[in-house]
Amino acid sequence: MSNLQEIKKRRTFAIISHPDAGKTTLTEKLLLFGGAIQTAGAVKSNKIKKTATSDFMEIEKQRGISVATSVMTFEYKDLLINILDTPGHKDFAEDTYRTLTAVDSVILVVDCVKGVEEQTERLMEVCRMRNTPVIVFINKLDREGQNPFELLDELESKLNIRVRPLTWPINIGANFKGVYSLYEQMLYFFKINKTKIEADVAKVNLEDEKLEELLGERDANQLTEDVELVEGVYDAFSEEAYQKGQLAPVFFGSAINNFGIKELLDTFCEISPIPQPRPTDVREVEPTEPKFTGFVFKIHANLDPRHRDRIAFLRICSGKFERGKFYKHVRLGKDVRFSSPFTFMASDKSVMDEGFPGDVVGLYDTGNFKIGDTLTEGEALQFSGIPSFSPEIFKELINMDPMKSKQLEKGIQQLTDEGVAQLFTLDLGNRKIVGTVGELQFDVIQYRLEHEYGAKCRWVPMNISRACWLTADDKPAMDQFVRLKGNQIAYDKDRNPVFLAESEWMIRMNRENNPAIHFHFTSEFKTEMAL
Ligand code: G4P
Repeated sequence: MSNLQEIKKRRTFAIISHPDAGKTTLTEKLLLFGGAIQTAGAVKSNKIKKTATSDFMEIEKQRGISVATSVMTFEYKDLLINILDTPGHKDFAEDTYRTLTAVDSVILVVDCVKGVEEQTERLMEVCRMRNTPVIVFINKLDREGQNPFELLDELESKLNIRVRPLTWPINIGANFKGVYSLYEQMLYFFKINKTKIEADVAKVNLEDEKLEELLGERDANQLTEDVELVEGVYDAFSEEAYQKGQLAPVFFGSAINNFGIKELLDTFCEISPIPQPRPTDVREVEPTEPKFTGFVFKIHANLDPRHRDRIAFLRICSGKFERGKFYKHVRLGKDVRFSSPFTFMASDKSVMDEGFPGDVVGLYDTGNFKIGDTLTEGEALQFSGIPSFSPEIFKELINMDPMKSKQLEKGIQQLTDEGVAQLFTLDLGNRKIVGTVGELQFDVIQYRLEHEYGAKCRWVPMNISRACWLTADDKPAMDQFVRLKGNQIAYDKDRNPVFLAESEWMIRMNRENNPAIHFHFTSEFKTEMAL
């Protein structure tokens, strides 16, 4: 098969949702439909159980499970589908953001009872930054949820994207009868059904007399009215607008009952984008280019102290990846090769001899990689679009054992390379400030520093709520600002200056008073902070 055929065969996407909306259930059902697993329950949830929040080792153990489900590959209708898993837990949101840089599209799961929740909004913000195409699956229609029109309005207003329903529900909750496919003109009947895969269907259009027979007069009339309204209110579905990330098709269903999944998967296969070009610091890389390139978007530590290796997940962006071949590690400027790269087929880990754009390769790593690292066949380019976002909680790292400061230094460098947290350094006194999105990471870091590096630390909370990256065209203005702000300026791992602010008000005030300085929301400086 040619490289182009291999590329056209691949679809790489992530399922995202607020915790509990049904991401794990939907993932499992897609694998069932794809024949990758035979029974429900085969996919271990990587969901971090609520009871475990104080026991982070338990959480890490559960996170360990997620290595096995980090990438799930299956074949369906001659396509090779890669689902990239994302942790649901809020404290690991950064992991999810980074995984979103490695996909070509996403399926967003929304709970029809809860509507758009906080985590959904944040994840969608990240998708919108990159114009990632989104399909929405409104789940749990067997529950007494909100009115579908209201749900769609909420999606549009809170997620800042146009939507277009492709199926329409007939009632909701206890009276839920199924969905009408607007493009197939087909009724899919709902039954509580946790095991069987296919729903009962009837091919009827809205003028068909059988509609009333099948649904009863009231529901048939309601459906006809609703569909008229949908067709009147929403523009026709445009595949092009979807692929540009401007329009999200919407499906309704019930993942636990295997309902609405097949339509979702079939449509996904038809419309979802093939592996896309990716930006680098020098040019855009096309998947069809003959030479191999790829970048690391996730690093997972092995917590077993006897095997200190880590697994780096690399997304292939162009060319062909081959086992045992030397590639250039651009940041380190050295050649590296991998004797046992692996992939995940039907949820088994197996050695990957060759891989193509869209594929994700697992690479054993002994500390050579950090997030965003690029491998090429020699060209000096660095993939971009893998920004850091501002952490929310900041604490100073205090060394508790002066004899072990080297170990502490190395440990915190490596852990932050993995993306566990972000490290900021104050020039004065070389003080180290660690920023995270959740309290959990502080426990994890403290534990790992002690057990993996033999270094003891404690944390001092800091009155900081936001970090923003600074740039200025006017260097003297920047130097002056940095001098004036003293301990409010720290440096990230790449020595970029960062303003550590107590509040958004503080950022606003500083921005007003210092028009020559630009305050950025992410480390890639594309998005100026909107406050
Ligand atoms: P997540 O990965 O997004 O966090 O969600 P997950 O799939 O784990 O689903 C969260 C809960 O919602 C689970 O129940 C799951 O069974 C339930 N669920 C998923 N889809 C549907 C649906 O279509 N209808 C209804 N009524 N429930 C659904 P749980 O009680 O938290 O877990 P479990 O004991 O059932 O596994």
